[in-house]
Amino acid sequence: MKPDFPIRTERLLLRPFTADDLDDFLAYRALPEVRRYLYNDASTRDECGKVLAQRVGETELTAAGQRLILAVELDGRVIGDAMLKWLSEKDRQGEIGYSLHPAFQGRGYATEVARTMLTLGFDELGLHRIVAECDPRNEPSWRLMERLGMRREAHFREWAILRGEWSDLVVYALLAEERRSRP
Ligand SMILES: CC(C)(COP(=O)(O)OP(=O)(O)OC[C@H]1O[C@@H](n2cnc3c(N)ncnc32)[C@H](O)[C@@H]1OP(=O)(O)O)[C@@H](O)C(=O)NCCC(=O)NCCS
Repeated sequence: MKPDFPIRTERLLLRPFTADDLDDFLAYRALPEVRRYLYNDASTRDECGKVLAQRVGETELTAAGQRLILAVELDGRVIGDAMLKWLSEKDRQGEIGYSLHPAFQGRGYATEVARTMLTLGFDELGLHRIVAECDPRNEPSWRLMERLGMRREAHFREWAILRGEWSDLVVYALLAEERRSRP
């Protein structure tokens, strides 16, 4: 599945990352408050450059295991990113993720983007179930999942060590039929 780029949402433009996005990417991805609950702790220009280089190629889903990563653009500036991962072809499972520059949080942009990733997953890729996961201390993240109508299905206690301390994990999910039945 390869969307027609760019994708225009109500207020934003979604498109693949390019190597030229490094300054904008670094401006949010390197911030401690953005990295806090991310498993990849890239913070230097060099580390973020490597993360970006990987993302530049993640523009379509042709096999399970792959990720579609999109830059979130507002007025020509990249202010965040979104991900749709194809977890299983046989079981039609996927996962979404998202990050936003703190200066642009609190306006519903991430919700708008995540809703678009759900649409791509359900309507374009034909997924049956889409999950999203986060550390429960990352309240803005799970509040967003709840805004999208996702259900909390699991809370794993101390499932991983994150920056030297035990981290819990909450798992949210939405079925295609649940999305259809919502007004
Ligand atoms: C997770 C993250 C993207 C959430 O950002 P966010 O700004 O809370 O999410 P949104 O952009 O959807 O904005 C929602 C907020 O804007 C408000 N809002 C304003 N206008 C809105 C609109 N039109 N639609 C929806 N919400 C709106 C909502 O009420 C909400 O505020 P509240 O939480 O005080 O109620 C952000 O915290 C982030 O980037 N964190 C760092 C990276 C990260 O941890 N990513 C997740 C890894 S699992």
